[in-house]
Amino acid sequence: MRDRVHILLRFLTSPMLRVLSALPAGATLLDVGAGHGLFAALAHASGARRVVAVEPDIRKVRPIAGIDFVIGFDDVISGTFDAISIIDVLYKIPIDEWDALLTRCLARLGPGGVLIVKEQDPTARFKNGWNAVQERIATALHLTLGQAFTYETPALFKARLERLGFVDVCTRRIDFGYPHPHLLCVARR
Ligand SMILES: C[S@@+](CC[C@H](N)C(=O)[O-])C[C@H]1O[C@@H](n2cnc3c(N)ncnc32)[C@H](O)[C@@H]1O
Repeated sequence: MRDRVHILLRFLTSPMLRVLSALPAGATLLDVGAGHGLFAALAHASGARRVVAVEPDIRKVRPIAGIDFVIGFDDVISGTFDAISIIDVLYKIPIDEWDALLTRCLARLGPGGVLIVKEQDPTARFKNGWNAVQERIATALHLTLGQAFTYETPALFKARLERLGFVDVCTRRIDFGYPHPHLLCVARR
């Protein structure tokens, strides 16, 4: 019951369907830091060919029909995918570890594969202030693993992905109607 409430709140407060629109039709997907599996479930429902979700917090992982839901970090997964999603996860990881994770993702994408990252835009000062308060409460209550709280500006994050070898990198705000400054970044291998 608690999980369902959490998933519903997540759905209502996060523009998951706008993120989902970046997923190519019929793709195979790896969702890194999948939480309770909301995005993975939406991807499966929207017709993804295969969905693997990986999440290190054992409290959040449970069977979901049509999804391979695995406990662990991204490095427990092998094989390649048409798409990899990382949704509101990077900010929980120390910034000096981002390149390594993103490089592993690049290696796990097939040719032309799509990286889908959702974070928050730190340049949106008012909305990001509200986000910071909420995240500090969630971290203090141990609702989410990870102590880091790091965001990168859209321009710097785009430059980071290009430096790592991603192409066609696009960032855009998808927060219209939401209190948080949701930022979507899509890039290709
Ligand atoms: C805010 S939640 C987002 C969950 C899910 N992606 C969603 O959008 O609903 C952040 C998730 O990142 C996970 N996480 C923390 N550190 C991680 C890491 N190093 N690698 C992968 N996931 C991590 C946490 O366990 C948590 O479930």
